[in-house]
Amino acid sequence: MTFKDKVVYQIYPKSFLDTNNDGVGDLEGIRQKLPYLADLGVDMIWMNPFYPSPQKDNGYDISDYTAVDARFGTMAEFEKLVQEAQTYGIGIMLDMVLNHVSIEHEWFQKALAGDKKYQDYFILRDEPTDWVSKFGGNAWEKFGDTDKYYLHLFDKTQADLNWRNPQVRKELFEVVNFWKNKGVKGFRLDVINVIGKDEILQNNSENEGKAEYTDKPITHDYLQELNRQTFGSDESIITVGEMSSTSIENCILYTQPERKELSMVFNFHHLKVDYEDGQKWTKTDFDFMKLKELLHSWGKEMSDNSGWNALFWNNHDQPRALNRFIDVENYRVEGAKMLAAAIHLNRGTPYIYMGEEIGMIDPDFARMDNYVDVECLNAFDNLFANGKSHEEAFEIVKTKSRDNSRVPMQWDDSTNAGFSQTAPWLSVGKSYKEINVKKELAQGDIHSFYKKLIALRKQYSVISEGDYQPYLEADEQVYAYIREDSTAKVLVVNNFYGKERTVSIPKEFRTGNVLISNYNKKELSSTVDLAPYETLAIYLGK
Ligand code: GLC
Ligand code: CA
Repeated sequence: MTFKDKVVYQIYPKSFLDTNNDGVGDLEGIRQKLPYLADLGVDMIWMNPFYPSPQKDNGYDISDYTAVDARFGTMAEFEKLVQEAQTYGIGIMLDMVLNHVSIEHEWFQKALAGDKKYQDYFILRDEPTDWVSKFGGNAWEKFGDTDKYYLHLFDKTQADLNWRNPQVRKELFEVVNFWKNKGVKGFRLDVINVIGKDEILQNNSENEGKAEYTDKPITHDYLQELNRQTFGSDESIITVGEMSSTSIENCILYTQPERKELSMVFNFHHLKVDYEDGQKWTKTDFDFMKLKELLHSWGKEMSDNSGWNALFWNNHDQPRALNRFIDVENYRVEGAKMLAAAIHLNRGTPYIYMGEEIGMIDPDFARMDNYVDVECLNAFDNLFANGKSHEEAFEIVKTKSRDNSRVPMQWDDSTNAGFSQTAPWLSVGKSYKEINVKKELAQGDIHSFYKKLIALRKQYSVISEGDYQPYLEADEQVYAYIREDSTAKVLVVNNFYGKERTVSIPKEFRTGNVLISNYNKKELSSTVDLAPYETLAIYLGK
């Protein structure tokens, strides 16, 4: 399989680099940084949406699927980016938002104007169900001045498409092929496990109605059809499905190679371990044993059943992992490396979210008006309406807002972190004078650690291909696993806390070699004293 030794780097185009100084990052900014990314060693760049959009949900509300929004650049610049990336051996992965369109999309506009053909592109009903939108409130909105309602699982400006209509599927497949023909080598499929809806939609007050539209069997059929009609004809294309509230069973089905659905999947269970009672808009410490149990069960079951995970700690929808899992005041550097090793040596495809390779942290905004994301603005109002004080609600938004990761990339310590000469669309994080690419390359060592991890995946088949076994399952501080293929075994131990821990090393590994360590450890014996946030990998050739 072609994707197992690859590493993907995620870029949020709006916040990467602004070259025309309008406060918004652009395609040209990405092109200019290709040498930086090639030096890091990544194989593919996933770009969040840059298509024309009213930006109610930062580009996930698309009004034209096959064009470039002028604020990001031109189609010619996109083509140039694809070509130039190719010269560095880097492929471009695009974000395909096929579950919904912006209500400004011409399909929705035609439907609103009364065109029956286009009304059947959407999910219109006389009676709304009780489902809750993922951005808060009921998931149905009045359809113009008719008596009907349209479904929107996300913002009310994002109308769900009717995949049951073959014409809709055909249009969407054409969109994918349009970009494929431009030389795109990867597709990230937004919330793809919710595209399949039943003909008759039912109320379900449990868990916000999710079971009524998540991982429906017909979704597998749609994915097989999508595969056949689009990317399936090119073996070098990598696909990753974003799976909302999914199950391991379904993710195995989505990714088993012979089923010809997707190369891999993102799931989010491991990033909900700091949700109190499963609720995102709460503030609490992470539950390490829960995190570990999830990493082990997903790791092992996907391994045993030839499924494939996308591995990640960060993305544009998540606060920075360093702030969630690490004592960032005291151990930012050690913790950044430990988290990196924990997934880069794991079974699956690692994704690096921009800035992660320099240990970027949450922006530490002081006021509510620094935040712009619709989800957190709604959440703030809800928290406030439900009795939280302004301060309490703000503290929760501060730890959970998606804006945490969407702030501009910190390139250097000049104004606006070198991102732009103008005030950016979202303020720069407070830490940019201390944490930036320029300083990291000159004197830091997180970046070089990432480089080494990426290189190891290419060098050792046991890392890219090996299977996965949990180790030290009962340990309350250490996440450890063993990888194995026909050539070697690797033991990886990760201390998730700022205090020391002694762990025993299986006998056979005592004659192995240290593959990588964030404390320069070289000697091995029957036990290892792990320092705070220490990561250690031991290689044993066969
Ligand atoms: C995905 C995207 C997120 C977006 C949502 C709706 O979860 O990652 O940013 O808001 O889908 O498209
Ligand atoms: Ca710009």
